[in-house]
Amino acid sequence: MSITVKTEKKIGIVGSGLIGRSWAMIFAASGYKACLYDIEPKQIEGALADVKTQLKTLEADGLLRGNLSADQQFSLIEGTTNLQEAVKNASIIQECVPERLELKRKVWKQVDDVVSPNTILSSSTSTFLPSSLSDHLTNKKNFIVSHPVNPPYYVPVIEVVPAPWTDPEVAKKTRAIWEEVGQTPVSLTKEVPGFIINRLQYAILNETWHLVTEGVLNVSDIDKIMSEGLGMRYAFLGMLETTHLNDHGFVNYCKSYADTIYAVSKDFKPTPKFEGPHVLEIAKQLEKDVPLDKLQERRNWRDKCLTKLSQLKKQMNKLKI
Ligand SMILES: NC(=O)c1ccc[n+]([C@@H]2O[C@H](COP(=O)([O-])OP(=O)(O)OC[C@H]3O[C@@H](n4cnc5c(N)ncnc54)[C@H](O)[C@@H]3O)[C@@H](O)[C@H]2O)c1
Repeated sequence: MSITVKTEKKIGIVGSGLIGRSWAMIFAASGYKACLYDIEPKQIEGALADVKTQLKTLEADGLLRGNLSADQQFSLIEGTTNLQEAVKNASIIQECVPERLELKRKVWKQVDDVVSPNTILSSSTSTFLPSSLSDHLTNKKNFIVSHPVNPPYYVPVIEVVPAPWTDPEVAKKTRAIWEEVGQTPVSLTKEVPGFIINRLQYAILNETWHLVTEGVLNVSDIDKIMSEGLGMRYAFLGMLETTHLNDHGFVNYCKSYADTIYAVSKDFKPTPKFEGPHVLEIAKQLEKDVPLDKLQERRNWRDKCLTKLSQLKKQMNKLKI
């Protein structure tokens, strides 16, 4: 089966680094034109060369998304150092410049000055609330955050976060675009610090800090709780569905465990600050397993694991009742 190349559909990507390149590949896989903008011509050249290599490798490994060949997908991706060219006729602009508030605000003002009033203005920011990036924009009703998890090619979830002034239609259309290109959007009804991913991640990280700094478990063992335990389930089920299946439904789960959850939760310590001598102690234990000069090798292994997991999840989702 072949898919139609949606030449009328275009994404303008501002910033051609790690995340910008992933967006270009994800959208091209669905037949979108993708225009990568960067301030550095060298950065664009490097980004296009890297995208081409990545697409070819994915194709050779049988992992390329969509029904177009690597060459067809690459032909949909272009680079530019002209912002107006990147935003022209785009249905969505996805900003992926470094995580610096003043830089992002400046870049969004530049986009705002040249963009059409029908274009969705979306930021990949991991940490800034959409209101803090868009209060100064003429087209702020079109502004939204679409926060990915790295690498988005294999980890599909996208947090779609509106500012207080975002038009609800823009939130709906943004969600529909992410679904169309094969990602898994979740729609927040309002902005909250950390969005959802980081709030949950920090809750777990804080308790991990306490347990390690109090000497209940060492670094290697506490990480096994996730990698060899909870994480195996969470790769397939959310927290709530896990509880639903762990008893005869959620109502029974609450009857059985509400008191225990409450009693254990009351034992939690106040929010820690990740500073002081424990930082070096934890780092020392982590570096024993992965020395700093081996981080890239371990990241490559992690990405291979995620590739395999995303294939397994696709297979298993077909068997879901
Ligand atoms: N890397 C991750 O794991 C990850 C995950 C989720 C979200 N994000 C978010 O995505 C965004 C981009 O992160 P990244 O890792 O791709 O960064 P990166 O450093 O790899 O890329 C940033 C790119 O922006 C370009 N740039 C700098 N100033 C610019 C400007 N004025 N106009 C246009 N381009 C400019 C740089 O030349 C570079 O190519 C950040 O907001 C980050 O928080 C990153």
